[in-house]
Amino acid sequence: HTTRVKTVIAPAATPNERAHAISRALALLRAGEVVALPTETVYGLAADALSLEAVAKIFETKERPRFDPLIVHLPDFSWLPRVATTSALVEKLTENFWPGPLTILLPKTSLIPEIVTAGLTTVAVRMSAHPIFSEIVRDLDRPLAAPSANRFGRISPTMAEHVFEELAGRIPLIVDGGATEHGVESTIVRPEKNGMIIMRAGPITREQLAEFGEIHRVAGNALRPEAPGQLPSHYAPRTPLLLADDVAQITVPNEKRYGALLWSSEDAPRDFVAKRRLSATRNLREAAANLFRVLRELDGAGLDLIVAEAVPEIGLGMAIMDRLRRAAHR
Ligand code: TXA
Ligand code: MG
Repeated sequence: HTTRVKTVIAPAATPNERAHAISRALALLRAGEVVALPTETVYGLAADALSLEAVAKIFETKERPRFDPLIVHLPDFSWLPRVATTSALVEKLTENFWPGPLTILLPKTSLIPEIVTAGLTTVAVRMSAHPIFSEIVRDLDRPLAAPSANRFGRISPTMAEHVFEELAGRIPLIVDGGATEHGVESTIVRPEKNGMIIMRAGPITREQLAEFGEIHRVAGNALRPEAPGQLPSHYAPRTPLLLADDVAQITVPNEKRYGALLWSSEDAPRDFVAKRRLSATRNLREAAANLFRVLRELDGAGLDLIVAEAVPEIGLGMAIMDRLRRAAHR
């Protein structure tokens, strides 16, 4: 990757800063550029989904293979039938979970360019609940294609600084909306005869979805990629990661630097040189919100191994364990 641009982080804490950041983002998006924006899940790398050139820039910037399709973020409900074929189940899901962290795979209309869906006949759609993202996409009045704003295969960013680490020099603007609320990427479902398949575990839990139809299965549990981009080695820190039930069971070899990502244990054995806790109160929501930040911190600590304690696989624990298994995969 060669193009070097100056990357500005635009603050959006005060009403003035926010208005300024939003108008800069809109001007760039209208000019066919890519910009990093906060969503309620992770930061996204957004571009006009209806412009081939703008979407091509997303793939270039992330070094993402062209076979890996993008999620399309809609300005409002009126856009759904313009980009996809819906159904009674889809209406129930969108009524209940949109705007919010649920992505639905649906047959696409001809409005969506093939580059967005990597040639597939389905399109992934969602509507973000983040106030900054939703204001921008509504003002633009065009859908935004936006993958997570990291280089391909790396940990998704949950803070503007993470995006800077990943993409500085490649994009003109990062709108700083602070730390994201959920901390893991949206749940992806594929509706299928009076039920659905969960393609990616996320903030909308299996338990929540089960109220609206049968969950036929959760894909990718066995680290078998079914969605094109759900490679087993995704979300990989550079440091090797081991999943364990209890860090106290792990012996640190002489002269090795081990770090602990704690869940069940009160503390790590003394020979661990770094430790982080996902949630002091063992709250899965808080743990998900912290996950990618603490993984990034441990990854930067010059460790030989990160030992991550398993969390219970209920509710948001499914999304956390999915990301940890991928991070552990070599
Ligand atoms: O929370 C999120 O979903 C974030 C924010 C920015 O919206 N976005 C995100 O995008 O996580 P990305 O590109 O990092 O992950 C989208 C996943 C990829 O694994 C991709 O392969 C899959 O969705 N996907 C997209 N379109 C698809 C399609 N038509 N069929 C199957 N999988 C699809
Ligand atoms: Mg991603």
